[in-house]
This record gives sequence, structure tokens and C-alpha cells, in this order.
Amino acid sequence: MQVPQLLVLFGSQTGTAQDEAERLGREARRRRLGCRVQALDSYAVVNEGGGEQCRKGTDQGCQRPYTYPCLVLEANLIREPLVIFVCATTGQGDPPDNMKNFWRFIFRKSLLSTSLCQMDFAVLGLGDSSYAKFNFVAKKLHRRLLQLGGSALLPPCLGDDQHELGPDAAIDPWLGDLWKKIMGLYPVPLDFPEIPLGVPLPSKFIFQFLQEVPSVGAEELNIASSAPQRPPSELQPFLAPMVTNQRVTGPQHFQDVRLIEFDITDSSISFAAGDVVLIMPSNSETHTQQFCQLLCLDPNQFFMLKPREPGVHYPPGLPQPCTVWHLVSQYLDIASVPRRSFFELLACLSPHGLEREKLLEFSSARGQEELWEYCNRPRRTILEVLCDFPHTAAAIPPDYLLDLIPRIRPRAFSIASSLLVHPRRLQILVAVVQYQTRLKEPRRGLCSSWLASLNPEQGPVRVPLWVRPGSLVFPETPGTPIIMVGPGTGVAPFRAAIQERVAHSRTGNFLFFGCRQRDQDFYWQTEWQELEKKGCLTLVTAFSREQEQKIYVQHRLRELGPLVWELLDRQGAYFYLAGNAKYMPTDVAEALTSIFQEEGRLSNPEAAAYLARLQQTLRYQTETWA
Ligand code: 2AM
Repeated sequence: MQVPQLLVLFGSQTGTAQDEAERLGREARRRRLGCRVQALDSYAVVNEGGGEQCRKGTDQGCQRPYTYPCLVLEANLIREPLVIFVCATTGQGDPPDNMKNFWRFIFRKSLLSTSLCQMDFAVLGLGDSSYAKFNFVAKKLHRRLLQLGGSALLPPCLGDDQHELGPDAAIDPWLGDLWKKIMGLYPVPLDFPEIPLGVPLPSKFIFQFLQEVPSVGAEELNIASSAPQRPPSELQPFLAPMVTNQRVTGPQHFQDVRLIEFDITDSSISFAAGDVVLIMPSNSETHTQQFCQLLCLDPNQFFMLKPREPGVHYPPGLPQPCTVWHLVSQYLDIASVPRRSFFELLACLSPHGLEREKLLEFSSARGQEELWEYCNRPRRTILEVLCDFPHTAAAIPPDYLLDLIPRIRPRAFSIASSLLVHPRRLQILVAVVQYQTRLKEPRRGLCSSWLASLNPEQGPVRVPLWVRPGSLVFPETPGTPIIMVGPGTGVAPFRAAIQERVAHSRTGNFLFFGCRQRDQDFYWQTEWQELEKKGCLTLVTAFSREQEQKIYVQHRLRELGPLVWELLDRQGAYFYLAGNAKYMPTDVAEALTSIFQEEGRLSNPEAAAYLARLQQTLRYQTETWA
């Protein structure tokens, strides 16, 4: 019997789902199964060009009769025998950006209930049970695939970030069952035994170090690789000069928040209120040097990369040839917390008895609690782990670097300015992430700390960035009021919206802003006050720490319930919410539904339905972040 190609498709926002998908790929390769791993939106669900109108029958081994819908006649997906979907759920139950096209496709009404009748599938979800719509994407996709005729190998796996031992606690046993199912359905011939766990799989790439320095310098190469393309994208970001980097919180405030401005002249970047800028951060010089020393790498050495097998894609955005310094500082995410697969591979590569033993323990099922305590709870980074295993670090073959260490992911920030008010400029508000765990060194967010460390007053600074639409869209009709609720840095997208609307003479701008103290973290205070004086803005503030009792934006909403109801119900206002995703979105939604009950005399279910209707008609929109 022919062993089918396993297809792993992932939808990943922060890289965790991608990690899981790649882990599945490795496990398949250990079991000698052919396997492709791809982001959902880079997989061509439908062949271009279409084909016949309709085809019925039981060909290609399908036991159930089926009809191909016209739209997907030559679809690739319907021919896949075995697909594992690995999908994260983001924010308020939304699919990640790199599966949004697939999401629209799979819910098309024109797809028939037998479209996927040839497919065995399983869905691995990654979510966070502290959010209301826990693993919403995985559950909904599982139901939809069943509806389209697919056969589920297992119920969906609901990985949970909140699990005290991390998402793998639910994923590991589920994967065990999955492999049993797959190997039962598609046994591999006996002369192809499994590759045991302690033996490394071949690396994805081969490093070829160059003896001579290429004629173009490293710096030029790096910049050449990011030469402006129209429009800039992840593959070719725009290297934007930073013009301002200014702390906007008072000295007593616990957090360093920066207003950062970039010059985007000649970038072909354009944006509107609600859009988002993606920034690709780098590791610090100290960390880059430390890593090179630990691994005995010469940072100035040039290398070329060759994929070991056909079908392996060249790492996007990496220049060729490239220096070790560039690879480490701009590509390898050495400041991230390593996943279990890192320990698995490191154990295989370790030549040192004691270190290897410890690494094997961390990668085994029984070592998971200890691994959690060592790594995840204190948020220990890859670099710090390598410092703890110096003999192993020094022996890592460069070929394995890209298998071992994930790539740095871009970070998204809401754009806080409008081109109508700040032409050729792009501004963001960045809270510098820093917190303490039991480790002596404070934990620092890679991107925000890197941005904060850049000082344009000391010399030119360039930051790789590009722009994409965000989830907020503002009405263009002149008479439609908008209510914006943006505590803390959540106010950023609303500054862009207010600037844009005022420039277009659109009235009815209501901003609810919350912060701790007016003299510490009241962003753009004077700007708002001037707009208020001109009658362009109604500002409502909630200062949480200026009195005994906490006052939050939702308290102000309730106090102004009659106005909020009048705006929404009579004047067709749009409602927007942005900021921290933890509790605030639920609290604000609760405040709204209670306003609907009190002011609109609606019952509890009627109020919930009213809110759902606002959501469906895009009159209730949110942009939240962790
Ligand atoms: P706090 O830090 O004093 O609790 C911006 O961060 C503002 O949002 C701060 O004033 C913060 O108050 C407040 N905030 C914290 N949790 C909130 C919640 N669940 N809903 C609304 N605002 C909140």
C-alpha cells in the first residue's frame, strides 16, 4: 500500500502554532512518512484556471459519492488524503492573519457537503482559556470540515496556554493518539524503521562557509536585501529612519512608554486609521556576541545556505550570502523561551554525558513538570539555556541552527498618526515590556526594548517595517458618530482616527480614555484638550489611581449610559474598543449590555443579541493585544 503524503497546514499569529506544525513534520519524518508543512494561506486550496463544470463518482479511491462544486473543481485540498490543521485562536476568537483567506474560502456557502469526502483530518487548536472564545477557530474548523464530508481521526485538541504545564500538556497525549491512528491507517513498510528519538534527523539546510569575503560588504548586503519594494512587505521591509524616540510617561510611572516616529518618505507606504505597522526587531549586540562566543562562531564569517531536500524553502528575508552576525542578530530568536522540541534536538546533538542526560530528561514526557519550572515559569530564554549547557552549545553544528532556533517574528503596533496631519511620518506608542521572574535579570520584550534602546539623536537609526490593514475600519459617512474606548496605549489607533476625521471635518467623535494618573500617563493630553476647545472631540477620562476606588472606562460608560444608548440606537454610532486583551474587553462589553438593558429596556438575552448585531454589522469593533 502506498503511504500518503501527510499535509500539515497551520494558522499561526505568534509562531506557536507554526512550532507545533513543524514538530508534527519532524515526528512524521521520524516515522518515515512524507510530510509537507505550510501556512494555510500559502497553500493553494484551489488550482488556478478551474476545470470541468461538475464531476460525480467514486474515483480516486473515494468510497462515498461526491460532486465537486464548480468553484473548487480543480481544488487541491479535496485531493489531500490526510491533513492536520494546526490553528491558533487570536484576540476575540479570530483566526490568525496567515489563515484569513483560507477561513473565508472554507466557509463559502457554495462548498458542497461532500467536498472533502476523501480527506482524513485532525485539528490541533492553540488557545488561552482565560479568553471568552477559547479555541474558537479550532472548534469551528473541526465542525466545518465534518460538514464538508471529511473524516475526523480524533476530536479536536484544545491546547491551553493557561494550563499550568503549558499547552503541550494537552497536546502530547493527543499527538500520541494521533500517531497511533495514522500508523494504523497507513502502516510504513517494515524495512523503513522509525528513527529513534536520540538520533537527530538530518538538518533542513547545509551551511557552506565561504573562504573569501564577497566583494559586497555585509552591511551593504543586508541593506540591499531590504531595498524598497512596492509596497514593502515581510519579504522586503522598508528600512525606515527613526526620527523621534521620546518617553511619554512621567518619572513616577511604573512603565516606560515611548512615542516613536518614523520617516516613511519614498517608501510607497500608505495607510489609513486602523492600520497596523509590523516591525522586525533585532537581538542586542551583547546577546549576539554572547551567542557567537558560546557556539564558537566567527560573527564575520560569510556563508551560503543550501536546502538539503527539494521542497524546503529558503528562509524568507535572509540575504545570500549572509554573515553569521546578520543571521544571529536579525534572524534567530535567541531571546524567546525555548519549546520542548529545542531540548529534544539539543539532546541529540550533545556530546557531553551529563548535559545530554539532563536534556533528554527535559524532552521526555516525565520531565515536563521540571522543564516547566526550569524554563517556562521563569521565562528563561534560549540564550540563557545555552549558557547552562556550555559543552553542548559549543558543539552545535551550524547546519542545525535553523532547525533549533525559531526565526524572530515581527511585532504589530497600531498606527497612532494620520498622514493627513503628519505627512510622510508614521507614529506609534510603545509600552516597553519589562518584568521580574525569579531569575535575577529582568525579562524584557525583545521588540519594545530594542526600539527603546535606539537613539536617533546619536546617529542615523533604521528600523525594518511594513504596513497592513488592522481590524478597525471607520465609517466615512459624515454624520455617523463614533465612540472610541481606548485605555492606556489602546488610545493609539484612535488618535489616528480622530486626526483623520477632524481633517475631513467629521463630527461626533467620542473618546473614552483611561490611565492611572493625569500627570503620569495621560497620552496626548494637550492635543485632546485643544480639539475639545474647537468642538471636534468629546473626551471622557477615567483616572484609576487618583482616588481610593478604581475608576475605569467602563464606569464612565455606565455613568453616561443615556448618551451611549442615544448615540448607538438613535444616531447609528459605531463603537470601538482597543487595548489590553485580558479583562478590559469583557468588562466593557458587560457595561454596554447593561446600558442596553437599562436604557433600551431590553431583557438580558435581547441585550446580548443587540450587541451581537452591532458586531455583525461592524458597528462594534475591537483591536486588542496581550
Ligand atoms: P490600573 O492599572 O490602575 O488597574 C491603562 O492601563 C488603564 O487601564 C489604567 O488606568 C488601568 O488601571 C486600567 N485598567 C486595568 N484593568 C482594566 C479593566 N479590566 N478595564 C478597564 N480598565 C482597566
